[in-house]
Amino acid sequence: MKPTNLFFTSFSLLLCVVIHGKVFANAAATDSHSFANVQDVRTTNLSLDLTVDFTRKQLSGYAEHQLQWLNPKATRFIVDTRALVVEKVQGLAADGQWSDIKYVLGIADPIKGQPLTMQLTPKVSTVRIFYHTTDGTTGLQWLSAMQTTEKKQPFLFSQSQAIHARSWIPLQDTPAVRLTYQAHIRTPKDLLAVMSADNSKNTERDGDYQFSMPQKVPAYLIALAVGDLHFKEMSEQTGIYAEKAWLDKAVYEFADTQKMIDVASKLYGEYHWGRYDLLILPSSFPFGGMENPRLSFITPTVITGDRSLVSLIAHELAHSWSGNLITNSSWNDLWINEGFTNFVENRLMREVYGDARADMEANLSYHELLRDMHGLSPLDTALRVDLTGRDPDDAFSLVPYVKGQLFLSWLEFKFGQARFDEFMAGYFGKHQFQSMDTKVFLQFLTEQLINKYPGVVTAQQIEQWVDKPGIPADAVVSQSDAFVKVEAQLKLWLTQEQPLRRLNTTKWTVHEWLHFINQLPRELSFAQLSELDEVYMFSSSLNAEIFVAWARLTIPQNYPPIFTPLRKFLLEVGRTKFVVPLYKELKANPEKSGWASAIYRDARAGYHPLTQSQIDKFLF
Ligand code: BES
Ligand code: ZN
Repeated sequence: MKPTNLFFTSFSLLLCVVIHGKVFANAAATDSHSFANVQDVRTTNLSLDLTVDFTRKQLSGYAEHQLQWLNPKATRFIVDTRALVVEKVQGLAADGQWSDIKYVLGIADPIKGQPLTMQLTPKVSTVRIFYHTTDGTTGLQWLSAMQTTEKKQPFLFSQSQAIHARSWIPLQDTPAVRLTYQAHIRTPKDLLAVMSADNSKNTERDGDYQFSMPQKVPAYLIALAVGDLHFKEMSEQTGIYAEKAWLDKAVYEFADTQKMIDVASKLYGEYHWGRYDLLILPSSFPFGGMENPRLSFITPTVITGDRSLVSLIAHELAHSWSGNLITNSSWNDLWINEGFTNFVENRLMREVYGDARADMEANLSYHELLRDMHGLSPLDTALRVDLTGRDPDDAFSLVPYVKGQLFLSWLEFKFGQARFDEFMAGYFGKHQFQSMDTKVFLQFLTEQLINKYPGVVTAQQIEQWVDKPGIPADAVVSQSDAFVKVEAQLKLWLTQEQPLRRLNTTKWTVHEWLHFINQLPRELSFAQLSELDEVYMFSSSLNAEIFVAWARLTIPQNYPPIFTPLRKFLLEVGRTKFVVPLYKELKANPEKSGWASAIYRDARAGYHPLTQSQIDKFLF
């Protein structure tokens, strides 16, 4: 920091405590996970100018904020940062001159990071923050060439949700604020950069890329990836970005994407974002998918060759309405994003692939929810939660997803599908490009459905769903005829009426196999497990969902044949949903916890920082 800032430093350290106290109190109503003084001033447009340095694993450059002042008396602009080095801040005055702005980086909060407080008044409408990222950056994963599929070029990707955008861009990191953005990204010459913005499919690969996102998005939807990426079209509106090895496989796997867009637009109104492309990430990507606008980020673990896991695409696409168009105003209301999205996802799957598949998928996620809820405190099973003082990553569970979905399915059941479809289309139309919290949603629901059709549901029932723990007894859980048949076949084997080879499984899809594995007794003899493996080859399944379900069953039973493929899986795949439960099962087995730690020592460097921090918590 320059000497001119010293005065401001000591002065503001004192002042900041007081002022932060006030700012925090104001902001607490909306977003306790951000330091930004959004009541005073908001960024309306962000312009990034960044260089991607793979040798130093560093982004450096500047973030230019266009400001809209709401409070004429304000004297500061506070943004969120985490583990960033701020080099200087400049402001543009009305006379067109750039000048240095005094600033101070506050004390680091373990969850929120550091507030960057800049001393300026509404006279300044444009601010440039010069900075670079560090090893502590949680929102980026830098992969060496060896950690990619092709093993030729390094790879970089961002994952900003929930509060990691601040670790690679200094900004107001709250979903309550929306901005447009542009970016100028410099990379090594033969790599391609893509963003959650317009990606020109014919862009010259020259290491110099320009992006523009003309629609207002919340900070957590700003995304960047750089690698040896290639593009292939699926339809006029959709295409795949991937390393070469995945390109054709992904084009085949996700060929129905356009159909999904068409169905969703018909049900919920226009698709507002122009193109919809998919980016296939390396297998360390910590999530199944991330709904970055115009360019969903997708794990390669759903590329199975049989299109069995494409509900993930329906899910990320659904976010183009629920989440990206209408955005949870804080992480307390995550169900506004994920519950709606799970509901829309299932509706799209029903329209495109039929009732049987949609019923199976809804039923599988219901059972996953029950399993997940076992480990949760009752308070965390309400839809509306208060995460003040907690890291949103730690509070993550299936509750906002599946309980949210069940709530909407219950409303659909009560009011009838036609009325509920109309309600949903009205919701997306009326609130587009805005943020939404539970309270405003409930007002809209009351106006548009509850009061219009009196006597269908009571305020008490709604309160039960939204603010009370657990699942209401009259939840509408999809039953699957196909699963009833699976259970009947399984019973024939368990009661020794039929040997495995005689069971009728010829038409089973991945969903039926998953249900079959989930329904197996938790304790089986070695002979039974071997018989299952011999006939169905679960231990060598290339479908990650099946492999993981089988591994979770067999680890506690010390079933020897699982451990070689399991080691390979843990070294290759970093998707948190898979690896965290696997390490937990291993840790819980006294004979295997040492083995797990040894594997983790080798695998850790290949995992994303978010995955690492989750596993570090219980394995070391
Ligand atoms: N937006 C989420 C991922 C996310 C949520 C990241 C909260 C950080 C904080 C994404 O759309 C998602 O839900 N992914 C799921 C997909 C699944 C439920 C179909 C995943 O990654 O498994
Ligand atoms: Zn989602």
